[in-house]
Amino acid sequence: MTNHQRSNLIRLACEARTNAHAPYSKFLVGAALLTESGEFVFGCNIENASYGLTICAERVALSTAVAAGHRRFQALAIATSGGHPPCGACRQFAAEFCEDLPILLIDSDQPDHVSESHLRELLPGRFVFPMP
Ligand code: THU
Repeated sequence: MTNHQRSNLIRLACEARTNAHAPYSKFLVGAALLTESGEFVFGCNIENASYGLTICAERVALSTAVAAGHRRFQALAIATSGGHPPCGACRQFAAEFCEDLPILLIDSDQPDHVSESHLRELLPGRFVFPMP
């Protein structure tokens, strides 16, 4: 990932966050993926009056990317107020496609404040289907 791609990824995650539909928790989340081929795909959390139907921003971004034919990714950026890491479900969802993946955690209140993590570190021992 170039520095230019990195700053675009951060900007897109922050922009996607503004599209979050989170009237219940009021916790806005934006996610942006850089695909292996250099395209950007993004997502936001989408809550529902039936709370359990809520979809996290990371899974929206991953689903959008996969539906467009992308299976390999260079990085994932997540923007929240506070720079929080992804939930366990999103870690496993990402791990379906990536053995490891750089994850940029952005504090949307101070977007220059980015911490970098890795999927393998956040989810050691991902579940992989035991093929015969
Ligand atoms: N949320 C995400 O979008 N990603 C995560 O990794 C954790 C939680 C959303 C779901 C819900 O809309 C709100 O944040 C509060 O849980």
